[in-house]
Amino acid sequence: MSVRRILSLFELCLGFVYMKSAARLAQDHWNATPLFLREESRYDAYPWLSGAAEFGDHQGERVLEIGCGTGADLLQFAKNGALATGVDITARHLELARTRVQGAAEVLRADATLLPFPDDCFDYVYSHGVIHHSDRPDLVAREIMRILKPGGRLNIHVYALVSFATLDYIRIYGWDWKRHIENSTDPVHIDLYTKRRLLKLFPNAGLSFQKREIHRWLRRLEPWLGWFLIATGQKPYHAG
Ligand SMILES: C[S@@+](CC[C@H](N)C(=O)[O-])C[C@H]1O[C@@H](n2cnc3c(N)ncnc32)[C@H](O)[C@@H]1O
Repeated sequence: MSVRRILSLFELCLGFVYMKSAARLAQDHWNATPLFLREESRYDAYPWLSGAAEFGDHQGERVLEIGCGTGADLLQFAKNGALATGVDITARHLELARTRVQGAAEVLRADATLLPFPDDCFDYVYSHGVIHHSDRPDLVAREIMRILKPGGRLNIHVYALVSFATLDYIRIYGWDWKRHIENSTDPVHIDLYTKRRLLKLFPNAGLSFQKREIHRWLRRLEPWLGWFLIATGQKPYHAG
């Protein structure tokens, strides 16, 4: 084996040793550049979000938001009478979320792959823009199904593989586009999802799908080419 080949193998091994997990990348990224939007700006930018997230439909229910970020959506559930809990892994986001919700919702530090809750304890689990940043979505899905009560519902929003935005980002930024669409060019894990991939993650949840978010000139294509793939489903009443 040539010296050059040995060196490149060595480099590859070093790369694996020092490769950051998706959770580490997320924390480095959002601790340095937090994602804070005032409520008005967020819901002006995403007018469809309130309906898609069902902010107003969970009064009196135990609601968990996974990856609550700086707490804007979490606060909407609380304002509408839900017993809301948000978890996130990024310390800076948690601080901003606590300041925003002012005790109206519980805010905890937790990794979505290992949630600090007993089985069967939430009526509704919501997550917007988070699971595509995980390199272990299988564990996140397992946790969601574990902590939901039988008959409890899930509502998750992930980036869609088949979308106008994907093509547009490639047009604007080239193949390195994933470095340009979050808060900074610090690396962060991003996966793109199809219905099939979500069905594999949640095989027993009877998922239904919609797509939202597209350039206003292309509104009619939103159901097919929207940027967020939204899956809603339910934990079965009986295992098996
Ligand atoms: C793009 S931000 C979205 C935040 C919020 N849902 C929103 O829409 O504004 C992604 C969030 O997911 C969180 N996150 C990423 N991986 C996570 C994990 N494994 N467990 C918990 N939170 C995670 C990040 O810390 C960050 O707050």
